[in-house]
Amino acid sequence: MSSPKIWTHKGTFLLAAVGSAVGLGNLWRFPYLTGENGGGAFILVYALTIALVGIPILIAETLLGRASRKSPIMGMQYLTESHNTSRNWRAIGWMGAFAAFIILSFYSVIAGWAIHYTGLMFSGSLVGADAATIGESFGDLLASPGLLLTYHTLFILASGLIVGMGIHKGIENGLRFMMPALFVILLIVLGYGVVAGDVGAAMSFLFTFNLADLSLEGWLQAMGQSFFTLSLGMGAIMAYGAYMSSEASLTRTAISIAFVDTAIALLAGIAIFSLVFGSGLEAGQGPGLMFVTLPIAFAELPAGWLIGGVFFILVIGAAITSSISLVEPVAAYLVERFGLSRPIAVTLMITFCWLLGLLTVFSFNYWSEGTITHDWFGRSPFDVLEFITNILMPLGGLLIALFAGWALSREEVLREMSTNDTWFQCWQFLVRFVAPTAVAFVFLRTMPQIDGYLIPAVGSVLLIGAFTAGRTFIQQRQS
Ligand code: PHE
Repeated sequence: MSSPKIWTHKGTFLLAAVGSAVGLGNLWRFPYLTGENGGGAFILVYALTIALVGIPILIAETLLGRASRKSPIMGMQYLTESHNTSRNWRAIGWMGAFAAFIILSFYSVIAGWAIHYTGLMFSGSLVGADAATIGESFGDLLASPGLLLTYHTLFILASGLIVGMGIHKGIENGLRFMMPALFVILLIVLGYGVVAGDVGAAMSFLFTFNLADLSLEGWLQAMGQSFFTLSLGMGAIMAYGAYMSSEASLTRTAISIAFVDTAIALLAGIAIFSLVFGSGLEAGQGPGLMFVTLPIAFAELPAGWLIGGVFFILVIGAAITSSISLVEPVAAYLVERFGLSRPIAVTLMITFCWLLGLLTVFSFNYWSEGTITHDWFGRSPFDVLEFITNILMPLGGLLIALFAGWALSREEVLREMSTNDTWFQCWQFLVRFVAPTAVAFVFLRTMPQIDGYLIPAVGSVLLIGAFTAGRTFIQQRQS
């Protein structure tokens, strides 16, 4: 096929990866999870996971993409062949593609809600409405398969259009225009939140750390969220990494992505909770925080319809820059493997995702709680899909960490990372031991019967890790 494609500028990968990272995860999921889990303590665990597990895996995933310069599935095939490792590592590529399908299918439906709310805000139909009416209007939206389907279709088409135009004309140009615009909008909403809301209450909610507030479930959610928000473990970052300039630094780029992503989640949190607390509302509303609680606050504030509308445009835009990174890995694979044209590859991908999205659409009406279908399975298909991705993402991240940490040779990694010995050792320790332990912790915690053994088990893995790393270090020093 054609020679490898590269982003036009050295910094484009950073822009694209930030675009992928910043999305519904920051604006919708992060605030509501923080609200449900008592604020500061949740943020502390989340930030720690980002630093110790997220950044090392982010480096590893980008590295795999750039070292192979191929789509994740083909890239893993190439890396296992060129490094003579087990073929089983190819599962990383396949699992990622599978997870991308599932995530895009429901991501698109939820982003569609934001389209609906943009309309509601700008039309002024919520101005002065009371809490009950606004709650009902969200219920009405969910109860209408027709509406949900329309927005889902619009959103997925828009994402497909951008990716279909290619990585330069579509993705790069789109991002270069959208990212700054989204940032400006966020600042406007933040400024409004500070002026019109109660920023003091928001700050103390977000930044008062009391670990005892955090339930076990909260710990797990904080770790899961750090994978989701960094777009890790599913090929999105690998696919973008394949186009990354060889000159850009992996470490510096990964730290910047994590920093910007976290900063934006916090800024969004400050804006949202200022408005929520300023209107005397509750933080722990769950997924409805953005679609019910926040509109209630906007309904009574001066010019709330305008800022509210602008805010939901931000949500749609941030979601699109993420969803295109879910389309790209699969589309690029279809182009590479079967020689399809890009528009056809993208059409195939989004058609199947659109169909899969029907499961989510119907989960809120035909198959919602109280219906026979729901009772049969004990949960809705949407819950099942979310559950699967909550497993696939950390699992993908775990395999990426292990592959980069253990299967690739030191030379190979250093060629891409081109860094000093100390940081290399440090990174290697993190991907070899710390990240796998953390992910194992997430999985094991779901099995209560082994609770008593968990701390000793985690401790021994870390000790063995420190010992092995220390020995390798000394041996390398001596040779
Ligand atoms: N990181 C995105 C968000 O925070 C979601 C996402 C996950 C995008 C995985 C791509 C891949 O909304």
